[in-house]
Amino acid sequence: MQVFNVKNNVYSIGVSDKGLRVFDIMMETKHGSTYNSYLIKEEGGVTIIDGVKAQFTAKWLDNIRSLVAIEDIKYLVVQHTEPDHSGAIPALLALNPNIEVYGSFMAMANLKEINNASFKSNVVRPKQELKLSERQSLFFHPVPNVHWPDTIITHDPLNAIAFTCDFLGQHIAPPQLRYSQEKNKQIIEEEIKLYYDAIMAPFKNDALKSVATLKSLDVSMVLNSHGYILDTKEAVDWAVDKYIKWSTVHKSDKLTVTVVFASAYGYTKSMKDVVVDELLKAAALVHVFEVPNDDLATIVTRIEESDALLVASPTFVGDGIKPIYDVLNSLNPVMGYGKYFSAFGSFGWSGEAIRNYMNRASELRFKIIDEGFKVRLKPSEKEFDDTRLYARNFISKVKAELNK
Ligand SMILES: Cc1cc2nc3c(=O)[nH]c(=O)nc-3n(C[C@H](O)[C@H](O)[C@H](O)COP(=O)(O)O)c2cc1C
Ligand SMILES: [Fe+2]
Ligand SMILES: [Fe+2]
Repeated sequence: MQVFNVKNNVYSIGVSDKGLRVFDIMMETKHGSTYNSYLIKEEGGVTIIDGVKAQFTAKWLDNIRSLVAIEDIKYLVVQHTEPDHSGAIPALLALNPNIEVYGSFMAMANLKEINNASFKSNVVRPKQELKLSERQSLFFHPVPNVHWPDTIITHDPLNAIAFTCDFLGQHIAPPQLRYSQEKNKQIIEEEIKLYYDAIMAPFKNDALKSVATLKSLDVSMVLNSHGYILDTKEAVDWAVDKYIKWSTVHKSDKLTVTVVFASAYGYTKSMKDVVVDELLKAAALVHVFEVPNDDLATIVTRIEESDALLVASPTFVGDGIKPIYDVLNSLNPVMGYGKYFSAFGSFGWSGEAIRNYMNRASELRFKIIDEGFKVRLKPSEKEFDDTRLYARNFISKVKAELNK
């Protein structure tokens, strides 16, 4: 990626990783990615904002040297310490140990563990000013958890630029970085959504707080750290509106419960029917899904909107079954936190599924308020009554907890 002037004294000094096919173990990146990094060339105070991945250190240093001498760098702002942005920083600090490094408390603590040598660390307070010159200052705005606890946004009011690191990024490695100059907007639209889903979606509340912070600033350009930069006010508004839409969870006022079930011979299914009947009698809003048939992404969205998740499943080979674990494995402790969980179902002889789902849900920080419920093989009339009782107990406990 070529060095280019973004606006006035702000330059792009990032690198392209076109061949990247998997990011962070989990995310497919079929268009590669870029690690965007920026340099502000102000007389008496050259500033670098964010680094790049370690394997691109040489290219990054060359990019910097094409604009300034390494000795002339005065400040380094570390907005996020994930190694795709911090990996190359130890090499820079080794070349110029006088650089004053700025970042959140968490970022400075993390960088200590990445640099493994002392450096000039400055923990920033919310809205703290860093004066680069008489005419130009940077202001730091902590926006934790988009997507690490260390993240900040840096505002340059002189140029109406916000540096946002991962926030509003996309994994794509285009030949030129300006959103306004890309004709194929569809590809950016797809990639910003894939990036949001993989990286930001667990932190919807924090994403909304970051949007509010960004909206409170005078910004006509967002310089992010992956893919296209949002180089017009329209582009910024477009991306921010998407983040608002994707981060807004539509929670009903009613008690809302998602029920996910699987059943080979219909025994668990018949138990599910009476549980759903009890939920409806209690005036709950109920979303029922059967796995593996129903769409996983929709199931996860409904769980996010719910107060509780109920899982209904038989035991197979001493454990729960893959389609139910696929649902649980699509959640994380941020999503589970504050929600209630229970599991029930039919079993043949050992019935481990229920206990194992409850354990997994507990790891996902769901609140566990009963022991689950299981019936051996085909439920009898008495066992259906017990199933109803189990459901009623669960509902009344959840209602009592929510009214606390
Ligand atoms: C392939 C297979 C493996 C099973 N393994 C177990 C097991 O390890 N422990 C157990 O309690 N039941 C086991 N079962 C029995 C089922 O849990 C039982 O038949 C249950 O009633 C099925 O309920 P469903 O009709 O809702 O699927 C197994 C059943 C199948 C088909
Ligand atoms: Fe990151
Ligand atoms: Fe990143």
